[in-house]
Amino acid sequence: MSGARHLYIHLPFCAHRCGYCDFVTAVDRRKQHGEYVDALLAELGLERVVLAPRLETIFLGGGTPTFTAPAALERLLEGVPDADEVTVEANPETVTPPLARLLSRNRVNRASLGAQSFQPRLLSVLERRAQPEDVRRAMYVLRDAGFDNISLDLLYGIPGQTTSDLDSDLADALALEPEHVSCYELEAKPGTRFTHAHGAELERQAESMESYFERVVATLTGAGYRWYETANFCRGEEGRDLRARHNLGYWLGQDYLGLGIGAVSTIQTVRRRNAPRLGSYLAALARGEEPPRELEPLDADTRRRERIMLGLRLDEPLPFGGLENALDREAVARLERLGLVARNGVNGHETLALTERGRFLGGGVTAELLA
Ligand SMILES: C[S@@+](CC[C@H](N)C(=O)[O-])C[C@H]1O[C@@H](n2cnc3c(N)ncnc32)[C@H](O)[C@@H]1O
Ligand code: SF4
Repeated sequence: MSGARHLYIHLPFCAHRCGYCDFVTAVDRRKQHGEYVDALLAELGLERVVLAPRLETIFLGGGTPTFTAPAALERLLEGVPDADEVTVEANPETVTPPLARLLSRNRVNRASLGAQSFQPRLLSVLERRAQPEDVRRAMYVLRDAGFDNISLDLLYGIPGQTTSDLDSDLADALALEPEHVSCYELEAKPGTRFTHAHGAELERQAESMESYFERVVATLTGAGYRWYETANFCRGEEGRDLRARHNLGYWLGQDYLGLGIGAVSTIQTVRRRNAPRLGSYLAALARGEEPPRELEPLDADTRRRERIMLGLRLDEPLPFGGLENALDREAVARLERLGLVARNGVNGHETLALTERGRFLGGGVTAELLA
């Protein structure tokens, strides 16, 4: 089937800006939510031709999609096509029974809750609004509204977070029995308030992060979760694949369309990045024109290299076929001897995967494999 099967929609509005975040966000702007949704729907109208007749996934990311004015959010959801998996990112403090019902009556069948931590002291380092009780309450509210596929986002490496803090965060997350957990190492993003205040501390603690990562993996896999991507885990459930299908599309190198400010699309041989500015986005779409964006041609070699970088984040072996030119055969053999990568299969049907040790070292190993 031709056309992109994955649609990303960026909803940038947030109640406030957390110090560590460098995503494309806009604080408050309540008066512009309706106008922004008009622009998103206009952009969808212009781009519909690149979409497949049936979508596999839609992901509403942010920003804080659930901070969007409810009437505008509902209008957006009513205007998007059907898809098998429809995910909305939600900040715990925004999840109320009416909001959960709005999402579920509009075909949203997966929620991704940004918990980050369950400890007030660490949440305040991150300048998060939600308290641990908000995360628990949001989870129950979503369950009550019928959500049976919920992901929790956690961060590790928060300044002042000890290994026992991490253990209790993981235990608190597991107690809520989420279907999926994303656990990221906190990154110091250039130019953020957080990096200004804590950047040097993050650099000092970088060495100990490998053991934190190992703890995350050991705890979640010990609790029966599948470590299916570097930072992502899903519950193993009979007859149900609980991996995030939208992100799986990215990791498998499939095409996707992104709408909204700062959104990225990859359609065949071109990557497009919408400019991150709200004013020029709204103005262009009000005139019925494409928003300002950068275009980057993707040659076959770049796509092959990306396919390897992303594909090796997964726990399923990557088929070699068509990727040979992008791999350094000597490096593959060397890393295989070091027990960091595993080759399998026979000529013509070979696969490559990182071993468990290789997965802990991650991107560094993959970078060495590239020709
Ligand atoms: C940009 S947020 C959007 C969702 C929602 N507004 C929230 O804050 O949870 C998506 C996820 O990105 C991750 N994230 C944001 N900034 C990060 C950083 N500096 N380092 C690592 N992960 C980060 C967080 O785990 C967050 O849940
Ligand atoms: S972390 Fe989430 S809530 Fe905080 S500013 Fe970024 S997008 Fe908004």
